[in-house]
Amino acid sequence: MAIQWYPGHMHKAKKAIAERLKSVDMVIEVLDARMPASGENPLLGQLSAGKPKLKILNKQDLADPERTRIWLDDFNSRPDTRAIALDASDRQAAQKLIAASRALVPNRGGIDKPLRVLICGIPNVGKSTLINGMLGKKSAKTGNEPGITKAEQRLFLADDFWLYDTPGMLWPKIIVEEAGYNLAAGGAVGRNALDEEIVALELLDYLRRHYLPLLQERYQADKNESSHWRDDQWLEWIGRKRGALLPGGRINCQKAAENTLTDFRDGHIGRITLETPQQWAQWLKTAQQKEAILKAEREAKKAERKGKAV
Ligand code: G4P
Repeated sequence: MAIQWYPGHMHKAKKAIAERLKSVDMVIEVLDARMPASGENPLLGQLSAGKPKLKILNKQDLADPERTRIWLDDFNSRPDTRAIALDASDRQAAQKLIAASRALVPNRGGIDKPLRVLICGIPNVGKSTLINGMLGKKSAKTGNEPGITKAEQRLFLADDFWLYDTPGMLWPKIIVEEAGYNLAAGGAVGRNALDEEIVALELLDYLRRHYLPLLQERYQADKNESSHWRDDQWLEWIGRKRGALLPGGRINCQKAAENTLTDFRDGHIGRITLETPQQWAQWLKTAQQKEAILKAEREAKKAERKGKAV
């Protein structure tokens, strides 16, 4: 699925982040614990090499706890990186975030050496909620439709703790196909940019393979019969269960897809994580191989055109 991000904003955001990185001491990247690798920004990884990084696996309340543990170990084994899992219902979330940041850069602090922190994250990941928690505010949200960006803000959490909140930054191209689907399933992609039916089918395909009992339980499907269902059969079942029908009794697949995605986003199917470090490594490898083939084909065509021109 080709996801078209907001290219105009992208270029500006990239420049702004590169510029900002020069004057910060560390980077907080807020990730969705249900899809930590998909939500990681490779560009940020490149631009912030050598800087201390705090990865927040947010919305842990919606994620598979066992997989969250595995992801934390994975991130914590990387250089210059510390990872913690949080969720909005944790009253201590903001304090944990602040304490982890201070611990990561212990040589900064005090009025003449404020800790300067850049905070980034994909849309809808819970960044505003975390920031509001740190500021002690109930709500200072400026827009909840993914893709709506805002200008960078500098927030003073304390005299010696400055937080730079950047506009949402995504990738010009997501090469890992699964990442596109996962981000879409999680709600990081504006509705106009995706086909909800395809996203729901991909989600159901993953769930039937990795979380079948949760799916069966949520949608009250017969355990034996449904254990062999394909993704489209699941979508049809969900449509029937939810009364998403068109005149003549056909399934309204769009409505069934919306229902499925809402259930997943709200955690109604259960605590689910759509990727493991192992799966991610495999997806990335496949995507890089595909990219290399495409590049070689493009170059061969270019050479052919050049050859014809002379
Ligand atoms: P953003 O700035 O990164 O775009 O995200 P924001 O904080 O606006 O959060 C997006 C949605 O995710 C909000 O729900 C918010 O309540 C929810 N959220 C944030 N953190 C967590 C968490 O740790 N766990 C869970 N379960 N949800 C979280 P919303 O439906 O858009 O708004 P509302 O319900 O808060 O009104």
